[in-house]
Formats: sequence, C-alpha cells, structure tokens
Amino acid sequence: MALKRILSGMRPTGKLHLGNLHGALQNWIELQESGKYDCFYFVADWHAITSEYSSTEGIKDNIVSMVIDWLSAGLDPQKSTLFVQSAVKEHAELFLLLSMITPLAWLERNPTYKEMKSELSNKDLSTFGFLGYPVLQAADIIMYKAYGVPVGIDQLPHVELTREIARRFNFLYKEIFPVPEPLLTSVPKLLGIDGRKMSKSYDNSIYISDRGKTLLHKISSMFTDPQRMRKSDSGNPEICNVFTFYGLYSSPEKVKEIDVECRKAGIGCTDCKKMLAKQIAEKLNPVHERMDYYMNHMNEINSIIEEGNKKARKIAQQTMSEVRAAVNI
Ligand code: TRP
Ligand code: SF4
Repeated sequence: MALKRILSGMRPTGKLHLGNLHGALQNWIELQESGKYDCFYFVADWHAITSEYSSTEGIKDNIVSMVIDWLSAGLDPQKSTLFVQSAVKEHAELFLLLSMITPLAWLERNPTYKEMKSELSNKDLSTFGFLGYPVLQAADIIMYKAYGVPVGIDQLPHVELTREIARRFNFLYKEIFPVPEPLLTSVPKLLGIDGRKMSKSYDNSIYISDRGKTLLHKISSMFTDPQRMRKSDSGNPEICNVFTFYGLYSSPEKVKEIDVECRKAGIGCTDCKKMLAKQIAEKLNPVHERMDYYMNHMNEINSIIEEGNKKARKIAQQTMSEVRAAVNI
C-alpha cells in the first residue's frame, strides 16, 4: 500500500534557531524517520512575500540557508521531497481557482489573520495577498492530496480553512480532494537568551549553526531564575529557561540531578550554564558536521532542490489537469 502523504511548509526566514528546530523541524524529521509517511516539505517563499513585500531582497539567500539547516538537522532528500513553492507555478493557478470559491467571511474571521495583523502593526498588511494567504496555503496542501499536515497550534485555523475549502470544491465540482487532517506538533516553550520569546527580530536567538565560543557565550548570557540573586540562594528550575533546555539536551538522570542541585543551591548558574553549553554542543555536533559538508558542496543543495521541485511539479501537474477538467476550464 502507498504511504500516506503529509505536507508542511516553512517561510524562508533564513537560518533557523533552536525554537524552530524543536518546534517544527524535529517533528518533520521524526515523521520522515517513522517510515510511515510520504513526506513533502517545502519552502513557502510566496508566503513570505505576503508580509515582507517591501523588502524581498534577502529571500533567495534565505531559502538556501534554511534548506542547509533542514538537511543539517536531518531531513534526508532520499526519504523526503524538499521543494520551493515558487518553483511549482501550479500553486498559483490552484490558488486563483480556490479564491473564486472561498467566501470572504471565512478569511476575515480567521484568528491567525487578526493576530498577525495586530502583531505586525508596523507593516501595512491591509492587502489582498495577506488576507488571502490561507487560500494559498490551502492550495499548497490539497495540491498534493495530503492526508496530514504537521503544524503548530497557531496554524490550526489555516488547516481548518483548508478542510472547508476542499469540501466546498468537492461539493461544487467533483470529489478530487481528500480532506486533510492537522497533525498537531507539540511545541516546547523555548525562550530566547533574554527571557523573551525566541525570535530573529529580538536578536535573542540561539541558532542551529551556533557553535564554539558563540554558543558558549550565548548560553552563558541566558537569563535564569530571576529570584536567585546569589549562588547561596536556592533556585527554582521550574521557572528557569536554562532548565527547559536541559530537558531537551540531556538525559532524564541529568535533568533530575540539576533539579535537585539547583533547589538546594548545590550548583551555581554559571556552572549550570557551562554544562548545558557542553551538552548542546555535543548534541549539535553531527548537525554541524553535516553543515560543514553542505557548505562545501553548495551545488548539491541546488540539485537537491531541483530534484524536489521536479517531483512536486509532476504531482501538481497531474492534480491541475484533474482540477481543470472538473472546473471546465
Ligand atoms: N503558513 C505557514 C506559516 O506561516 C507556512 C505554510 C505555507 C504551510 N503553506 C503551508 C504550512 C502548508 C503547512 C502547510 O508557518
Ligand atoms: Fe537555572 Fe541552573 Fe541556575 Fe537552577 S542552577 S536557576 S536550573 S541556571
């Protein structure tokens, strides 16, 4: 039996941070490694333009550096199809046709739309493209007749909308599209080094590519339990971001040990962070080795993307001929 297809996309933000790694990418890799799915992962470059239309100059470089991070972290082009949205023009055609059948009200009530618009209030997002981008996302997903869409909770409304659009298409024209399921990714709450949400725009991120002195320095400057002023004060790991990282980068025994030692002031934050830096460096070592390899073999990156684009295009072309026939166009 053919494997169930799953599909997910990421905006090309350039190099990825540990929040991205543990939020989405790690999950993509696990789905790939489970052997249960035919995985399609793509760079959503048209999506990036919906909010970054006034500064598009970095997009091409960002695509490449993001794909390098994907491959370094463990996405494997032998197992997963990796492609770039704008290289498969069929997405635009399906987007156009879906936009004809999507009621405006479905878009206007979308909570992610409202949230992003107020969050990014420094940009003028009263555009047609920004309101309509969930329709583009629906096209991305149903184009490949995906069974499942791995996403974080913020993207759930978009998958819900995709389901409604797929049903509406099937009802109006012909049963072409399976109604996709969201595969919810649990996202650990990783904060940046300054204690705010880890985000490129806050300049507080630890990147997948950080190593050596940079990594050590960033981890050494991480905020810890704010109530713990002196080494002799006992600490509370539950409210310490450093401790959250331990949960991801060391053994359960080590986590337990830090928990105990922190609470009885047996270990100071400086030492605690030094040890954490070592654990993270060790875990990221194979990732950095792959990164070095790809940095020295940039032509491989291009051919991986080209191959993925070709595979995606083939399916998209097939879907579009069914769609055109159904719509009588
Ligand atoms: N909108 C998603 C985001 O901002 C990215 C995305 C675009 C996506 N198309 C998709 C995710 C299709 C899943 C499936 O993160
Ligand atoms: Fe956080 Fe470690 Fe300091 Fe405890 S000892 S407050 S876990 S950094």
